Amino acid sequence: MFSHFLTTICLIFFIQGALAEEMVYITIGSDAIPSLSQKKIITSKSLKSEKGITLLSVPKSKILEISELMHDKFNRCGGFIYHPSYEKAQEAFIEPTVNKEILADYSINQESIVNSFIQKISSENILETIKKLSSFPSRYYGSENGVSSQNWIKSQWESIIKNRQDARVELFNHEYAQPSIIATIQGTKSPEEMIIFGGHGDSIARGDQEREMKAPGADDNASGIAVLTEILRVIIEGGYKPEKTIKIISYAAEEVGLRGSNEIATRMKSINAKIVGVIQFDMTNFLGSDGKINLISDYTNSTQNAFLGKLIDKYVQTPWGYGQCGYACSDHASWNQSGFIASFPFEASMNGHNPNIHTKGDTLDKSQNTATHAMKFAKLGVSYLIELDK
Ligand code: BES
Ligand code: ZN
Repeated sequence: MFSHFLTTICLIFFIQGALAEEMVYITIGSDAIPSLSQKKIITSKSLKSEKGITLLSVPKSKILEISELMHDKFNRCGGFIYHPSYEKAQEAFIEPTVNKEILADYSINQESIVNSFIQKISSENILETIKKLSSFPSRYYGSENGVSSQNWIKSQWESIIKNRQDARVELFNHEYAQPSIIATIQGTKSPEEMIIFGGHGDSIARGDQEREMKAPGADDNASGIAVLTEILRVIIEGGYKPEKTIKIISYAAEEVGLRGSNEIATRMKSINAKIVGVIQFDMTNFLGSDGKINLISDYTNSTQNAFLGKLIDKYVQTPWGYGQCGYACSDHASWNQSGFIASFPFEASMNGHNPNIHTKGDTLDKSQNTATHAMKFAKLGVSYLIELDK
């Protein structure tokens, strides 16, 4: 009798636990499924499997294990995309259709103005921003520091634009504590047309206690935010009045499934935004073995990538090449998925990138306490802005 009573109690707890466990949707490379099943990380059947991508519904508590397995076994940092709903997850299988209307003019003919702005870029400023951001113990999306670091970026950008009536800085709030930050300079001639610059503001250190762990993220991705901040400063202080609207974004929650950028890109798609081009800065300051800028060729637009190659030759004058992440590795993929033209110039070749990311060792000394490499990305960003803004 008593044991029957106990069994019932256990059963009630079990059912409650099962019901309480929140399920989330992820898409992941199909090649990872056998290992995930073998390790009993996933137990239910996949919901869909097509074009090398598999859709799964998994308990939220398994996300960390999945991300660790992807890192250890497949050498992909996270290697899966988080989706807020089943409907949204379906879009991962649809080939993005790029806006029919081509808004971009990829000619390169603004040499004197581009050069005058490039000269104003300061590696000292880039360095200071990286120092400050990497001094937060972590910028984890679910932590208090993840909120205060984004607010620090907001206040920096506000102080840069303070004397400009045509510019503003806003929060973009999500379902979790960390907001994304968006600086906008209103276009003078075609304000409905936008050029988007972005990078993620959050950081992560992977492991059992990722919420508590130290994650300075100096390269990943204080270096990208520092480049964005310097582009904004140079454009504003040089009195540049763009013809098109410029948006500079520090995305929230990239490290946990591109969540911030996904929401922003989806919103832009739903309002039918006219976006001329998107560029992502994520890891800019670690000099890989070959010293090349690596234009990521997957989840990006090849025509815009070729344009970036030409801009590097003309204005940055440094070697570059093409490479692949092999999965949706940063926020450019969110834009690409929503049908926008996106590119991702990356610090190094895939086997030569910074090995310290996602650990407490992602610090500025790994870049010799300089911002020499990041400086090239600021030059590329400024030339991209001015040459595309016509
Ligand atoms: N900066 C990395 C992406 C990256 C790492 C690109 C190494 C190229 C080489 C980015 O912040 C990141 O870690 N992304 C996640 C994406 C995932 C959660 C969808 C990753 O790769 O784990
Ligand atoms: Zn990362």
